[in-house]
Amino acid sequence: MSIEIDVLNGDSSWPRAEPLLEAVWPHEVVEKLSWGHVKWAHADLRVLIDAPEDAERPGLACHVGIYFRTATWDSRKVQIGGIGGVSTRNDCRGRGYATLALNAAIRTLRDHEAVRFAMLFCEPHNEAFYEARGWHAFKGEVYAEQPEGRIRFEAMAPYVFDFTRKPRDGIIDLCGLPW
Ligand SMILES: CC(C)(COP(=O)(O)OP(=O)(O)OC[C@H]1O[C@@H](n2cnc3c(N)ncnc32)[C@H](O)[C@@H]1OP(=O)(O)O)[C@@H](O)C(=O)NCCC(=O)NCCS
Repeated sequence: MSIEIDVLNGDSSWPRAEPLLEAVWPHEVVEKLSWGHVKWAHADLRVLIDAPEDAERPGLACHVGIYFRTATWDSRKVQIGGIGGVSTRNDCRGRGYATLALNAAIRTLRDHEAVRFAMLFCEPHNEAFYEARGWHAFKGEVYAEQPEGRIRFEAMAPYVFDFTRKPRDGIIDLCGLPW
């Protein structure tokens, strides 16, 4: 059975993505989490995979947000590709959808030659998932914008996926909202 993977504009595909993201991260649950207060960037692009015909119900099965950002690494400008909002509907998990969507996101970012590496932020229980897919912990400091100003961003652990650069340490300033 073939699986269709869409990579669409982030804003126009938001209505398709929203019900899945709300189901995976319900507002009333998120607001009680340590990172529930964080203001996140909007995705520039979204990878979307629909549920297969044999699923309990139709609709979106999997989402990965893609972000493009001119950031700094140790005070030098660098183009970063961001990945965020990785989520698969409960009844569609374990079928490889998140892996497929992540791979599609990485391919999309690689198509932009200026992008030097990809970056995501995850909770401790997901670190093994990303490490198994080639991501590396970034041990340095990350800064980002929030409504109150520039902050050290420690709400989640930073992970990087190497393209032409392999950052492991130093200071990365996202120069904008985190994702
Ligand atoms: C994490 C998540 C996206 C995985 O989606 P998925 O479509 O089931 O992922 P895949 O089918 O591609 O991969 C599943 C594999 O990853 C493993 N896996 C899933 N979550 C894992 C975790 N937290 N740690 C380690 N391995 C994990 C599964 O055991 C499975 O292994 P197998 O292939 O050896 O059977 C999904 O569980 C989810 O939406 N979780 C809630 C939201 C979330 O935490 N997202 C991550 C945000 S950073």
